[in-house]
Amino acid sequence: MSVRRLADESVQPKSFAFSEENAGWAQKRIALYPEGREQSAVIPLLMRAQEQDGWVSRAAIETIADMLGMAYIRVLEVATFYNQFQLQPVGTRAHIQVCGTTPCMLRGAEDLRAICQKHIHPEPHHLNDDGTMSWEEVECAGACVNAPMITIGFDTYEDLTPERFEEILFAFRDGKGDTIPAGPQNGRRFSAPLTGQTTLLDTVAAQPAGGAAASGAGDDPKAVRPGRKSQIGEEAAPAINSPAPDEAKASVAEAEAEKDDATGPVGRKPDQAMREGATGAESGAIDGTAKSASDRKSPSGKSKGE
Ligand code: FES
Repeated sequence: MSVRRLADESVQPKSFAFSEENAGWAQKRIALYPEGREQSAVIPLLMRAQEQDGWVSRAAIETIADMLGMAYIRVLEVATFYNQFQLQPVGTRAHIQVCGTTPCMLRGAEDLRAICQKHIHPEPHHLNDDGTMSWEEVECAGACVNAPMITIGFDTYEDLTPERFEEILFAFRDGKGDTIPAGPQNGRRFSAPLTGQTTLLDTVAAQPAGGAAASGAGDDPKAVRPGRKSQIGEEAAPAINSPAPDEAKASVAEAEAEKDDATGPVGRKPDQAMREGATGAESGAIDGTAKSASDRKSPSGKSKGE
């Protein structure tokens, strides 16, 4: 596990600005919070800055702090806490996060790390020769059942063997990352047993009106007991008052639309490398020729005004 610090000053751009599109998005995001609570937008804004430039620079942290009226140290604390935020320039096609916590380590994470060292760079947080790939080791990503696993951008790739991981690494390196399906790589469905479903195999018969007692199903352990609903307070079980099916569908649609608006670059396809076309190490920051915000490409690959 590496110490999370800001990148060296030699690679820090002198300034940061959101693109016109992202600046508009940021203002809408800030406006979602009540007056006086605008600082709650800090994580979405940091993520948007990362989607735009590929990583979170000191200038981005300070710009966002100014936008939200926060002390620089408060935004720095957030950016350095979550390893979803990249504090160094990362590969333009993929930054691979290898989980190295115990379950993944026991299931072969060291082999995955060795492959990164062989094909990308011996040290984490360093770019490969053409700047397309980088890697790091991170702590548990919450997919331990499917260990070992890696994260690239917004997707996880699980149940890996060294051979399958090499195929995935080469695909991203060659710009074909979107051909690799995210999730388990061994045919497993989600985190179900490899041999198939072993529980919840019985189909529960629909209960007739009047409940279990009326139907004579009083001995069925799965049956709803008469009066059961009235024993549970609405506060303890808000689902009792869940919306009617049509209302529920509308809320799901609204939530999905909101999610699309709130996360990810516009038009991002599933499994697409997070920052294809973004600027970062290659932005000129290293040689002092950093591009202006208007010259940077948006996550969708379009320059401002296109
Ligand atoms: S230990 Fe690797 S995902 Fe949890």
